[in-house]
Amino acid sequence: VTSPDNDREKFLAAQKSLEYVRDGMVLGLGSGSTARHFVELLGQRISAGLKVKCVPSSETTRGWAEEAGATLTSLDDSPWIDLTIDGADEADAQLNLIKGGGGALLREKIVAAASERLVIIADSTKLVAQLGKFPLPIEVIPFAQRPVLQHLQALHGSPQLRLGEDGGPFVTDEGNHILDCAFDQIADPPSLAASLSNIPGIVEHGLFVGYADVLLIGRGEQVDVIEVNED
Ligand code: 5RP
Repeated sequence: VTSPDNDREKFLAAQKSLEYVRDGMVLGLGSGSTARHFVELLGQRISAGLKVKCVPSSETTRGWAEEAGATLTSLDDSPWIDLTIDGADEADAQLNLIKGGGGALLREKIVAAASERLVIIADSTKLVAQLGKFPLPIEVIPFAQRPVLQHLQALHGSPQLRLGEDGGPFVTDEGNHILDCAFDQIADPPSLAASLSNIPGIVEHGLFVGYADVLLIGRGEQVDVIEVNED
């Protein structure tokens, strides 16, 4: 739930991320309400003459980008992205992330992997000491849903099928379903990520390990900048 304060923090983080944008870049556009702020602010820069090409990470974001007057491209035409700006559901100080609250994790991870740099924008509630309170979204091929559910139960993920507004299963942009897994505490994100990637039928999971380069966290009227320590 976004309180007015959270939304202000999201806006400020999005505004700060514009400092990373350069003329001529191919940009990846994330999904979610924080990314929406970024797309709207980017639109103002585009109106003022900025030239960029954008790869949206969801059909919803595609709509916002069109409204903002952005020039769109695809991974077919622009397989290398200079910079992606995206939100997150949780982030830790090592820049591990949980994403997929909006259901766009598969395309978001593909876009992130194609990006030279990934800048995450978020309000202060998203920065946590340990990932896992937010249920981890896992995108699954419908055919494999039952066996994947059993694998996730064995991993103590308490998987729940995400439902859409019509009461049926939520369907992603790629036609898959989402199982939200309440792990509660994820002590070792790389290890859990590897285990999940080994389960046939899981198309992708929302643990982003080693993707983010910078976190911009809105905190009151400030924005904290957290970067990967290269040492
Ligand atoms: C969508 C995402 C979003 O980035 C995440 O859910 C954060 O959303 P918001 O900016 O609305 O808090 O991963 O799949």
